[in-house]
Amino acid sequence: MPAEHQHESGPEHLLQLTPDWLQACIQLDQRALGGLWSEQQWASELSDPRRPAVGLEQEGSLIALGCGWLVVDELHITAMAVEPNRRRQGLGRRVLMALLQQGQSQGALHATLEVAAGNQAAIRLYEACGFQTAGVRRAYYRNGDDALIQWMRLHDCEEVRIAAHS
Ligand SMILES: CC(C)(COP(=O)(O)OP(=O)(O)OC[C@H]1O[C@@H](n2cnc3c(N)ncnc32)[C@H](O)[C@@H]1OP(=O)(O)O)[C@@H](O)C(=O)NCCC(=O)NCCS
Repeated sequence: MPAEHQHESGPEHLLQLTPDWLQACIQLDQRALGGLWSEQQWASELSDPRRPAVGLEQEGSLIALGCGWLVVDELHITAMAVEPNRRRQGLGRRVLMALLQQGQSQGALHATLEVAAGNQAAIRLYEACGFQTAGVRRAYYRNGDDALIQWMRLHDCEEVRIAAHS
């Protein structure tokens, strides 16, 4: 590989998303999810200890994020987003696994989420990480799409289990 292409960008770092990342989260939400949450929702998301939020930054830019909500012993995955031009590089998987590990370390035994039945990229990612479809909510979304309810037992996932005990 020519030298000028070898170090185009620095390494990606996993981090806990804090209120310092508010504007970066809003912007990535706009680019990847079309604006899922308002600024106020993001602000409360990033300041609530029962709502773990994990990101990947590269040279100061947020390129992926994942958010969850701990309800008793269940981690609800509430948002997953990867920068559009950085997909299929394993970033979504890294963020999701880190979020599951964090949920488990805060006491979650299971994880659950809802995903549009037509969102193949997300469904494949979740299945690759161990989620299984447990039910369907018909016409759940405004455009009439069904929602798949997915679920996993965190202890069943080897990657989560290894990280939790290492
Ligand atoms: C869903 C999303 C987060 C996936 O992120 P990603 O970084 O591209 O995913 P990864 O590269 O980690 O993929 C992990 C695995 O998921 C599956 N996968 C991911 N994207 C896929 C696609 N477009 N088609 C098929 N499989 C896909 C593959 O099995 C992949 O492993 P592989 O690349 O080794 O085959 C990303 O596409 C995204 O931000 N989409 C828009 C927002 C969204 O829909 N979020 C989820 C609903 S809240």
